[in-house]
Amino acid sequence: MLAGKPQNSILFRVSDDIAYNCLPVCRRSRAAISQGDLDGYGRMNILGISAFYHDSAAALVRDGEIVAAAQEERFTRRKHDSSFPTNAVDSCLRAGGLTAEQLDHVVFYEKPLLKFERLLETYIAYAPRGFRQFLMSIPLWMRQKLHLPREMDRALQDKYAGRYVFTEHHESHAASAFFPSPFDEAAILTFDAVGEWATGSFGTGRGNRTELTHTMHFPHSLGLLYSAFTYFTGFKVNSGEYKLMGLAPYGTPVYKDIILKELIDVKTDGSIRLNLSYFDFIGGLRMTSKRFERLFGGPPRKPETNIGQREMDIAASIQSVTEEIVLKMANHVYKETKLDRLCLAGGVALNCVANGRLLTEGPFNSIWIQPAAGDAGGALGAALSVWHRYLGKDRLSSEKKDSQQGSYLGPQYANSHVKEFLQKKQYSYHQLEKNNRASTIAGQIADGKIVGYLAGRMEFGPRALGARSILGDPRREDTQSKMNLKIKYRESFRPFAPTVLEEKASEYFEIDRASPYMLLVTNVRKEKCLSQSPHDGLSMLERLKIKRSDIPAVTHLDYSARIQTVNRNDKPDYYDVIAEFERLTGCPLVVNTSFNVRGEPIVCTPEDAYRCFMRTEMDVLVMEDFILYKEEQPLWEKTKEWRDEIILD
Ligand SMILES: [Fe+2]
Repeated sequence: MLAGKPQNSILFRVSDDIAYNCLPVCRRSRAAISQGDLDGYGRMNILGISAFYHDSAAALVRDGEIVAAAQEERFTRRKHDSSFPTNAVDSCLRAGGLTAEQLDHVVFYEKPLLKFERLLETYIAYAPRGFRQFLMSIPLWMRQKLHLPREMDRALQDKYAGRYVFTEHHESHAASAFFPSPFDEAAILTFDAVGEWATGSFGTGRGNRTELTHTMHFPHSLGLLYSAFTYFTGFKVNSGEYKLMGLAPYGTPVYKDIILKELIDVKTDGSIRLNLSYFDFIGGLRMTSKRFERLFGGPPRKPETNIGQREMDIAASIQSVTEEIVLKMANHVYKETKLDRLCLAGGVALNCVANGRLLTEGPFNSIWIQPAAGDAGGALGAALSVWHRYLGKDRLSSEKKDSQQGSYLGPQYANSHVKEFLQKKQYSYHQLEKNNRASTIAGQIADGKIVGYLAGRMEFGPRALGARSILGDPRREDTQSKMNLKIKYRESFRPFAPTVLEEKASEYFEIDRASPYMLLVTNVRKEKCLSQSPHDGLSMLERLKIKRSDIPAVTHLDYSARIQTVNRNDKPDYYDVIAEFERLTGCPLVVNTSFNVRGEPIVCTPEDAYRCFMRTEMDVLVMEDFILYKEEQPLWEKTKEWRDEIILD
C-alpha cells in the first residue's frame, strides 16, 4: 500500500488517494442538498451526529451558528458511550426548539462504507491473523453500522424526511477545528487513532473552505501508538491516555531511544511508520505483542495494580516521543502552508502537554484547538461542514473571537427546575441572592471546603470548565490528596488543574494569552515556586507530598499546570466566584476538576450532581442559585455498593 512513497514521508496527497476518490461512499454533491426552510423562519437547521466508535455526540447548527452540542455519555451515564446518541439528539433539538421534521440536513461524521472497506482489506491482508477480532466486529456492522440511514430514521422516529449526508472522519475533525476558530485563514492539523483510513491529516482553512491536502494512513498512527502504551501501562485505551500523560513527569524517558529505534520510524515531515511486529491491534485482541513485552521487560501492568518505576519511565518516554512528533509535524505543516496560525483537532490534540510545547517552541504564532477534539467534536465538525463546505455559506466568526461560546453548549437547568427538584426530594437548601452568591461560595472554598458546582449550560468536550466542576482551594497542601482519594476515588498521582482569572494568568503562569478550554500546559512562574532538593530515591507518594509552590494543589511534579483562564463575558457566575476568592485570599485561582467520580461521566442534571455530592466526601453543593451543605442533608441511603455500577476507566 505504501510502495513508491518517498523515504522521507509516508503521507498521501489527498488528490492521489484512491480510497478518497473512487469509492461509492454516499458523498452528495452540493446541488443535491436542498436549501430548505423547514422551521418556518427562513433558517437552516443542520444536525451532526457521531456514533459507534467512542464518545457519541450530537450537535445542532442553525444558519452557521452553533445552537447546541452534547455527548451521549452524559445522559446514559455510561462513560464514552458509543451507542447512537438518541438522548443527545433530543437535547439538541430541545435547545433549538425544533422537532426532527424541521431539520434541513442530518449529517454523520464519517463514511461507514469506507471504514468497512478498511476493516475488510485489513483482515484480508493479515488473514488468518485477526479472524477472532473480525468475527467479533461483524455483528455490529451488520446490525447497525452498515445501515446507518435506517438507524438514524429509527432514532429520529421517522420524522426526518431528508437524505443523510456523510462527511469524512478527518474532514469532520478539520471542520471542527477551523470553522469555530477565530481565524479567517489557518493551517489545519488533525491526528487521532484512525478514521476511515486516515490517522492524521493536514491542510488549510480559508474563509468558508477547508482543504486537507495530505493524510497519513492506518495502521501507521500516532494515536494508536499512544494508546498501545496506555494499554501496556495498565490503563484503559481511549480513556486512560490522560493518565499516561499525567504519569509522565514521575519518570525518566529512558525508553525513548528504544521506541525511536525499534517501534517507529519518524520521517522528516513527522509522519510515522509503526513496526507492526511490536503491535497486535490489527490481528489480535490486544494492543501490543509478545515482542513488545520483551522489549519493555515483561508483560503489561495489570489494571489496578501498583504503578512501578517502569510504568513511570515508559510514560515519560512515550510522552517525550509524542511531543517531538507533534512538533515535527507542525513544523512541516508550517513550511508547507506558509501560514502562521494553526487549528488542531483529533484525539491527540487533547495532549495538552504537547500543545503547550507547540505553543512555546513551535513555529505558529497562534493556535486554536477544538475543545471537543475527540470524536464527539466530529458531530459538530460534520454539521459545520455541510453549512460551509457543501452549501457554501460564509462564516460568522470574526478575527477577534471564536464561535465555540466557551464550549458551554449542553443542556442547562433553570432555578425553577432546581428548586422543584430540591423541594420534591425534601433536600435541605438555601437560596443565594445576587449580592451574596459569589462571596458565599468563595468563602466556603477559602475555608477549605470542597464544592460541587453546577451552573449554566453543560460543557461540550471532556473538560469541565466551571459549569459542571468540583472546586477547591489551590493553596492548601492537602487539597490534591483529599480530592483524589475522598472525592474522585482515583489514583493519588493524578494532577489537578486551576481556573485563573484571565487578566491574572500571567502573574502565576508563564503564559501570555487566554486558555479558556484547559488544553494547554504551561509552567508555574518561578517566583511562585519553592526551591527543591532532588527527588531521587523518593517514592511517588513522597514526591507528591512535597510542596512545590504557593499553589501546591495545581502544581505538577515538573512545576507545570494545565490551566483554564476565565473572563467575565464568557462565564460571569464562575468568574465572580473566583474574583471573590481572590478578594478573600489574594489568590486569583481555584482548583477545578470535573464533577464526577472516577469511571463516571461528568454530571449533567441536578439529580446527577446531588447523587455524586452525597456519595463522596464533598462538603458543599451549588446548583445555580442554591447552596446545599452536607451536614444538613437527610441520611443518604446506600441501596447497594454504588461503585459496582461504575466501570473503572
Ligand atoms: Fe477521530
